[in-house]
Amino acid sequence: MDKVIVFDTTLRDGEQAAGGSLNIQEKLEIARQLGKLGVDVIETGFPVTSPGDFEAVRLIAKEVRSAVNCVLTHANINAIDQSWEAVKGAEQPRIHIVLSSSDIHLFYALRKSREEIIRMVSDTVAHARKYCSDIEYSAMDASRTEPEYIYQILKAAIDAGATTVNIPDTVGYAMPEQFGALVEGVFKQVPNIERAVVSIHCHNDLGLAVANSLEALKRGARQVEGTINGIGERAGNASLEEIIMAIKTRPDFFSLMTGADTTQIYKTSRLVSDLTGFPVQPNKAVVGANAFRHSSGLHVDGMIKAAQTFEIMDPKTVGVPSSSLVLCKTSGRHALRERLAELGYSLTEEDFNRAFAAFKDLADKKRDVTDKDIESIVAEEKRTVSEFYHLDRLQVTCGDRGIPTAAVRLTGPDGQVLADAALGTGPVDAVYKAINRLVAVPNQLTEFTVKSVTEGIDAIGEVLIRIESDGVTYTGRGADTDIIVASGKAYMNALNRLLTAKKGK
Ligand code: KIV
Ligand code: ZN
Repeated sequence: MDKVIVFDTTLRDGEQAAGGSLNIQEKLEIARQLGKLGVDVIETGFPVTSPGDFEAVRLIAKEVRSAVNCVLTHANINAIDQSWEAVKGAEQPRIHIVLSSSDIHLFYALRKSREEIIRMVSDTVAHARKYCSDIEYSAMDASRTEPEYIYQILKAAIDAGATTVNIPDTVGYAMPEQFGALVEGVFKQVPNIERAVVSIHCHNDLGLAVANSLEALKRGARQVEGTINGIGERAGNASLEEIIMAIKTRPDFFSLMTGADTTQIYKTSRLVSDLTGFPVQPNKAVVGANAFRHSSGLHVDGMIKAAQTFEIMDPKTVGVPSSSLVLCKTSGRHALRERLAELGYSLTEEDFNRAFAAFKDLADKKRDVTDKDIESIVAEEKRTVSEFYHLDRLQVTCGDRGIPTAAVRLTGPDGQVLADAALGTGPVDAVYKAINRLVAVPNQLTEFTVKSVTEGIDAIGEVLIRIESDGVTYTGRGADTDIIVASGKAYMNALNRLLTAKKGK
């Protein structure tokens, strides 16, 4: 079976999704997890776009050595030089040059002729080759480019030294049959194609990103680009977990394999969802909450008799925690440590102590502590490390009479204790106003959602908010059995991220 190179661009194209920005530590954490998932290439960022991206690429290069570290750059000598500075510490660096190929982009966006574009591709690929032997060239908007021109541009890129040539369906316009034919045409019409890996990169505007990617693999492409949970520009990118599982589940059809450790899929999906603040829809293939749930009597009956009646994948192969084991207030440190290990967490002693204290606190309020509760606790504890301001106390009065009032106490940057109170139109508004009186950073709340982590009246509530400041969106999350407290935590989380970003400028 041929191996497909799995190229993850969650940290680059995925992060380009509106409202999905990640800070440096979060990118590092996702990169580490992608390393565990065993993807072959991680696109770690687009270093010329921001100092934060540059730093994230540099740090990931030092730490995540098992995968190729790829950086995206414009087809511009200066941009390539800067991008190389960011990625040069990687064990396996790759420079990825993007330049559009379609007449629409050439005419409206670049105002260049086809000849000029070919010259730019040749010059910049040759320049990048001076730094690094692994060079990818992407013909942006390839699916809306005349095939003859794609053949010429890819030939020029390979002649100049590109080792991977990527055919993106940038705007999600292609149909599987048509996209497959384009890939097949590339194999037939590009004379030096055997010197490069053919890659594809599909967007999901018509919901066909995975179908187009699989069709292209069927027709000979051997690198597939995508993101975890399919996040990305507009309607997103191809979902890598779906592609990996399609290849694994249907070897009879594809005769292909990947190097991914599929048991890490679920954890990677949760992590990306937690850190970007993009929830996974319940019916999402492979990683949705309902992906392995059976409801109708007929299905449940079939499942009891033999799982393969209604399940084409074993949930264990994607790492869905199968245990129905629950912890409770009599469970000790050992039980929590074991459960965390089974869920794939390895915490430092300090982090474990914090998680254990939060677990005990939760178990006092809630009879059964499930895996989802534990995941929520760990995520909450991670969010509160290295905060500028920490929410220490929160008290509200509210109801259908009287004026909603909130009092808050924060611990500030130098350990000073700050306290204030405010009135609001509701309890959350009052909490946010009280916090604003202490942390005076102008911002606007643009999104607020509450959901429960598990079923039951005593469930943990998770709040996700987005705030905007100077045109930039910051996501905040908070979890607690009290949703007003969770809302306060989410707001502090967003404010801390805003302050970190502003400090980094
Ligand atoms: O969608 C696209 O064309 C891209 C390229 C940079 C590969 O993201
Ligand atoms: Zn893209």
